[in-house]
Amino acid sequence: MAEVTEQASRHQVWRMFDRIAPRYDLLNRLLSGRRDVAWRRRMATYLNDSPNQTVVDVATGTADVLLTLVDVSPKVSRGVGVDMSNQMLAIGREKIARAGLTERLVLIEGDALALPVESRSYDSATIAFGIRNVENVQGALGEMRRVLKPGGRCIVLEFSIPSSPTLRGFYLFYLRNILPRIGNLISGDSAAYTYLNKTIETFPHGEGFCAEMRRAGFSDVTAQPQTFGIASIYAGTA
Ligand SMILES: C[S@@+](CC[C@H](N)C(=O)[O-])C[C@H]1O[C@@H](n2cnc3c(N)ncnc32)[C@H](O)[C@@H]1O
Repeated sequence: MAEVTEQASRHQVWRMFDRIAPRYDLLNRLLSGRRDVAWRRRMATYLNDSPNQTVVDVATGTADVLLTLVDVSPKVSRGVGVDMSNQMLAIGREKIARAGLTERLVLIEGDALALPVESRSYDSATIAFGIRNVENVQGALGEMRRVLKPGGRCIVLEFSIPSSPTLRGFYLFYLRNILPRIGNLISGDSAAYTYLNKTIETFPHGEGFCAEMRRAGFSDVTAQPQTFGIASIYAGTA
């Protein structure tokens, strides 16, 4: 497949995930040195205090966020994962079945820009490495706000760029030269992992993304850089 432009590839980007689904989890662990696991676990610290929480996980992919949240937080009782890629969802459903969690976690096909769930019905809305991939960031954040109960928490995990110039230099070299090669080698899809680095470089992070969350109507918005700032966790209250 020819190299895709960032704008073009954001349109129906889930099709790309259908192609790389079988290798997605392996590549995540490899390309992040397993930091992605620790970052998802940390998302649980941003949940509010409600007991028996329901979570909607947007762009859920292979369900790692939901599986992690029920594992680390006794506050989470049920979760719904939404994604457009059936191949990613199929792998997620297998993982949920293996963990014996089919009564508590359900995955459904759906668009982040039109979540197929009721308004004001969830305690938390999460999205990990997904907001960067949607065509309309405000549309997706607006949907997450719509489905949250008042006081519910929106928790976003996304790649960011380190603020230290030296680290930034190393990181950009990794993103531009190493990550696409490893991605191509393992997934056989060079376009996918070339796309990945381009969207990381151009996507708003830190205060820029906090401003997007406030614009979508969230309050008490925070940004917490992870691992030298190569990822960040953003949280806000509906
Ligand atoms: C990088 S993966 C993240 C998966 C998972 N959240 C994780 O932490 O590993 C991005 C996911 O976003 C999904 N996606 C992209 N655009 C979407 C949309 N408009 N609506 C729902 N899911 C979407 C893709 O299918 C893919 O599964």
